[in-house]
Amino acid sequence: MNDFSEIDIDDLDSRQAEQELARLAKEISHHDKLYHAKDNPEITDAEYDLLRNRNNLIEKKFPLLIRPDSPSKKVGALPNSGFKKVDHKRPMLSLDNAFNAADVHDFHGRVKRFLNLNDDSKVELLAEPKIDGLSASLRYENGIFVQGLSRGDGKTGEDITDNLKTIDQIPEKLSGGDWPDVLEVRGEVYMAKDDFDALNKKQIAAGKQPFANPRNAAAGSLRQLDSKITKSRSLKFFAYSWGEHSDPLGSKQSDVIVKFQQWGFTTNDMVFVNTDVEEIISHYELISEKRSKLNYDIDGVVYKVNRLDYQERLAMVARAPRWAIAHKFPAEKALTTLNAVDYQVGRTGAITPVARLEPITVGGVVVSNATLHNADEIERLAVKIGDEVLVQRAGDVIPQIVAVVKSSKHNTPVEFPDVCPSCNSHLIREDDEVVWRCSGGLICPAQRVERLRHFVSRNAFDIDGLGSKQIEFFFNEGMIESPADIFRLEEKDNASPLTSLKNREGWGDLSVQNLWNAINDKRVISMDRFLFSLGIRHLGQQNARLMCLNYLTIENFLNNIEIATDKGSSEYQSFLDIDGIGEKVADAIIDFFDEEQNMVVIRDLLSQITVEAFTPPETGNSEIAGKIIVFTGKLEKMSRQEAKASAENLGAKVAGSVSTKTDILVAGPGAGSKLKKATELGIKTLTEEEWLALI
Ligand code: IVH
Repeated sequence: MNDFSEIDIDDLDSRQAEQELARLAKEISHHDKLYHAKDNPEITDAEYDLLRNRNNLIEKKFPLLIRPDSPSKKVGALPNSGFKKVDHKRPMLSLDNAFNAADVHDFHGRVKRFLNLNDDSKVELLAEPKIDGLSASLRYENGIFVQGLSRGDGKTGEDITDNLKTIDQIPEKLSGGDWPDVLEVRGEVYMAKDDFDALNKKQIAAGKQPFANPRNAAAGSLRQLDSKITKSRSLKFFAYSWGEHSDPLGSKQSDVIVKFQQWGFTTNDMVFVNTDVEEIISHYELISEKRSKLNYDIDGVVYKVNRLDYQERLAMVARAPRWAIAHKFPAEKALTTLNAVDYQVGRTGAITPVARLEPITVGGVVVSNATLHNADEIERLAVKIGDEVLVQRAGDVIPQIVAVVKSSKHNTPVEFPDVCPSCNSHLIREDDEVVWRCSGGLICPAQRVERLRHFVSRNAFDIDGLGSKQIEFFFNEGMIESPADIFRLEEKDNASPLTSLKNREGWGDLSVQNLWNAINDKRVISMDRFLFSLGIRHLGQQNARLMCLNYLTIENFLNNIEIATDKGSSEYQSFLDIDGIGEKVADAIIDFFDEEQNMVVIRDLLSQITVEAFTPPETGNSEIAGKIIVFTGKLEKMSRQEAKASAENLGAKVAGSVSTKTDILVAGPGAGSKLKKATELGIKTLTEEEWLALI
């Protein structure tokens, strides 16, 4: 290839430009890799910027020559964190919580009901400590550790292979021989308490800030771009779960733990299996007695259904498996003084009183703010400024004030405002609600900032380098007022070179370029993220997904919602028929889209981005995908809930009532009016047996 790197862009002909773009793509990608590998980069940031600049200018002049692998498209080439993002082959789930014995019994009951087992049948549970660290997924191919990812948002993690390789308890090669060719082992990276104490001593001696707790220290150590630092921090790893695997791992959770040990992993030594919930709970008591003497932090006990075929049937809801639950240890408490109360305005206008406290350490973490929830709670506690209060902190839950311990009549009462602290609009409270909300809607700056924050948050647009702080900055500068402005930011910035971002404090060529890249990367977005990002009340991740399953494209969704604003329409009825959507939720969603000022914002946003059509989950059986199914009567082989979940997993929609749109009615014994209606309408009707055969 000829080298045209010295030729002025204005003098390049198209053949030369093409070759120059090829050269630049190769060279920039080479430097990207060096940067990621954290070896010393060969060139300075400024030199790197020059390369990218030249590439961009040539592309501007010869747009037809833009390469599919152009560096200008490779967005997030240098993500802010410095780690490559990688999709998990299987999502990394979180766990639902149980806070007392009754919750654990409920869990056990739910499992049995879902599996359609009798009340007196036995389901084996496995109990083990819940390690307070960070989860990681380790991929082995032919027994060799090839890639390690952090959990990230559960769908996409960061490639932290080099750092994980420094952990002694993570084998580079599996021992034994019967491992599957592809195997992802999951577990918790943590820092032992004695290593934590030693590290903090060193930090202090070196004049550095000590870490608040072992978990933070482990997180900080894993996030190092230089794996030598990670190595010096002596992290540890417990294996307890798995992701993709090319062969079955066994028939029980407990079998897999034994295999993990044979393959060279460390597993926790307090694993206990029993069918009796009371026994399981006494194991919890035992672990909590030992807790303070353990050399690592734990924050509860995890219970898992031991049989893997049951686990598979139980599958997951939203982001947590139905087959497991975390029984959390009780919250830790401490006494301190209430100094003041501030009022925060949330994205939907909810006013939350926030207690400003005399800083106090609760369970190893310094707490200076706590929530007071709402006006009723302030009244219930009868709390005054200056009171001594009991503060509690449970895991990652926001600390809260649980009681007033000492008060004096001279202390100042807490007065709940009657107007919004941000925009002075009056506050309103709906009949069945405890929360006061600002009535200012989009004119309320606090609500607008919160909506923008939500818009870029992790489960919404998740734009690298555009977090809460940056949103506030751009909002205060008047550069971002609505979501669409985010996608016009680069253009706006180019148009005003005098105040351009790269010349401002805290920003440079590279970080600005990274931001533009990260923003452009999100110009194509999945439909569920898009709907969730709008921050509509009652339209959380789960309902966003329901909308996707039922409407498939954003155009189809918007069209149908528009018709559904007429409550007499059949579209409104179909909306209500979506299993899982009640009237309150339906109305909140419809009202939002019925509001013209919301539609202006959405149309503006849609002019900047593309919302991908939803791809229903792998169905394998096209006969059921997309069909509307209604279940009625008693099912004998499985619970109604399992029947519904299995239909949805095959891409079908489950409705609560029969209409002309119904495709299949599955009728068990005792079916009544629905069966009659379906027969009248000539709808295909199946017995449970026939349904099972079909799926
Ligand atoms: S099982 C599919 N077992 O807790 C279930 N998780 O709050 C996957 N964790 O993200 C999790 N100890 O990081 C499991 N013995 C244990 C655990 C454990 C700690 C963490 C894990 C997970 C989080 C959920």
